[in-house]
Amino acid sequence: MLSITQQLKAAESYVFATLAEAGVDWDNADARAFRTRFDAEFPRLFNLFAKLYGEHEDCLDHLATLIGQSLACWQARPDDLKALDLSREAQPDWFQSNKMLGAFCYVDRYAGDLIRLKDHVPYFADLGITYLHLMPLFDCPAENSDGGYAVSSYRDVRSDLGTMEDLRDLAKTLREAGISLVVDFVFNHTSNEHEWARKAAQGDPEFSDYYWIFEDRRMPDAYERTVREVFPDDHPGAFVQMEDGRWIWTTFHSFQWDLNYSNPAVFCAMSQEMLSLANQGVDLIRMDAVAFIWKRLGTSCESLPEAHLLLQAFNSVCRMAAPSLLFKSEAIVHPDEVVSYIDPKECPISYNPLLMALGWEALATRKVELINQAIARRQPIHPECAWVNYVRSHDDIGWTFADEDAAEFGIVGFDHRRFLNAFYTNRFDGSFARGEPFQFNPKTGDCRVCGTTASLTGIEAGDPGGIDRMILLYSIAFSAGGIPLISLGDEVGQLNDHSYKDHPGQAGDQRWVGRPMRPDGLYDQRDDPTTTAGKIFARMKRLIDARRSAPGLSGNAIRSFDTQNPHVLGYVRNGEGQEIYVLANFADTPQNLDPQRFLETMPRMTDLITGEAFHVRTGVSLGPHQTVWLA
Ligand code: GLC
Ligand code: GLC
Repeated sequence: MLSITQQLKAAESYVFATLAEAGVDWDNADARAFRTRFDAEFPRLFNLFAKLYGEHEDCLDHLATLIGQSLACWQARPDDLKALDLSREAQPDWFQSNKMLGAFCYVDRYAGDLIRLKDHVPYFADLGITYLHLMPLFDCPAENSDGGYAVSSYRDVRSDLGTMEDLRDLAKTLREAGISLVVDFVFNHTSNEHEWARKAAQGDPEFSDYYWIFEDRRMPDAYERTVREVFPDDHPGAFVQMEDGRWIWTTFHSFQWDLNYSNPAVFCAMSQEMLSLANQGVDLIRMDAVAFIWKRLGTSCESLPEAHLLLQAFNSVCRMAAPSLLFKSEAIVHPDEVVSYIDPKECPISYNPLLMALGWEALATRKVELINQAIARRQPIHPECAWVNYVRSHDDIGWTFADEDAAEFGIVGFDHRRFLNAFYTNRFDGSFARGEPFQFNPKTGDCRVCGTTASLTGIEAGDPGGIDRMILLYSIAFSAGGIPLISLGDEVGQLNDHSYKDHPGQAGDQRWVGRPMRPDGLYDQRDDPTTTAGKIFARMKRLIDARRSAPGLSGNAIRSFDTQNPHVLGYVRNGEGQEIYVLANFADTPQNLDPQRFLETMPRMTDLITGEAFHVRTGVSLGPHQTVWLA
């Protein structure tokens, strides 16, 4: 039997022989640069490939193909991106800066198309945005595409939004303005209109193997015994029937067909789609629905060990052929699972769905026990990684706290989620929120909530605390570490949009209520302090500016600070040696903190948001929903 080193050597020789046969020329500077990265990455990639695909006879052939294709992608990579690769390698912690500020929008809903989006770049730069996530913009089915999350071609921009050239051009304009472009890599599934899916539907065996297709119900029944229903409104279980009578795996909508990553050909093909995306000038890709990419009978088919190996393998391919590309994971699951994806060798950046959900939880309950516990217990991550802290995404809010965490306070997870759903959909007495329920599952009682920040915090309802609550949530996203993310339009208080009910492709999906068109009228009022939009905008600007000038907010290091007041959250940040005490009052009434809490701090501190001085040794008083960043 061969030793590991011998296996590695043998695999390497095999790969090189195959590439030589295919006429690959190593004798130029570009190929040599790739070779250096290849030498550094190959042991890891080989190891991952062996674990994932070692049982396949043609495993090494796939690996050779992958290397050959990656080299070709590297050679096609534009020079300015290669220059970016070098500068990012020299400063790998670039995204840890307190100057980082993320935002997201839909190209069509915000600007019409990619060309017109360019007109907004000066505004983005002026606001301080350094990271712009454009919601899915690739070719997809015409009527219902799950907001573009059903991709029909990763190589073509949706025709009403523009062309690939427009995307490259926009990426360049953004880069010149200091803004990184982020797009989704929707890689768990393709749409049923993707070329591969069409061929599979026609019965082509090669492409049938790209998906999870079964002749009859035996396997689907067996799998469905243990997997959860993500979109029960769309179809029960995880499978739908194809026109020819076969059954196909669709975790999300019936037109989103799950790719079969147990087939190495799928991994190789999707790696090429990913690299071609990187070569358009995308800096960061949001790895969509990472929890679902590997399936095994008898399991929940979520977050299996192989899902991690796959992400590591994709990451390794990037390090060779598009080294500056970074991954952000989208795992809206149990907090233990969320953190399991966060690693420099997997996804260095991740959404923070727990902190997001618990901010809303604390607003509803006016108590900080859960969010405080989450900060103490579940915030710390690898120092080279970063959370993306957000108030809301384009999706629903799911109450993804751990039941076992809640139980420590005598809170029953199921009941608490029911309360939160009722509260945020205005079915609870005294609620300030105007959200809509999403995917109520009568079998499990599960449900999630949709709506814009302004509609959920009470601004829509005219509640006097509305604006304060919104600023409170954003002040946490802006100060808790990593990259804060604004839902563009929130900075002027965009409200729920119910017009989706008139669009056949959207009517059944309440998430559209929280995806309004750019609120032009509100933007026009943003400099008028007598308007709600103007008030929100001025306070958001103040938060943004305060963050930009506070190096203490860089990085991720955080420790909780017990305020000994059940309504006031406290934590300490100390990036680059500046210590900042964040205090946030979730109550509707003023709250006082005991001077004893501040015996170890400086006696006099300044709120970085307002510039107000605090003599903390005499105690701290906070107004309703007030947050301070004391330094
Ligand atoms: C992600 C997206 C969501 C989409 C799903 C399926 O969760 O955020 O909008 O429905 O993936 O692609
Ligand atoms: C995500 C989550 C689910 C969410 C959906 C999109 O991946 O698992 O909770 O609602 O997809 O909305």
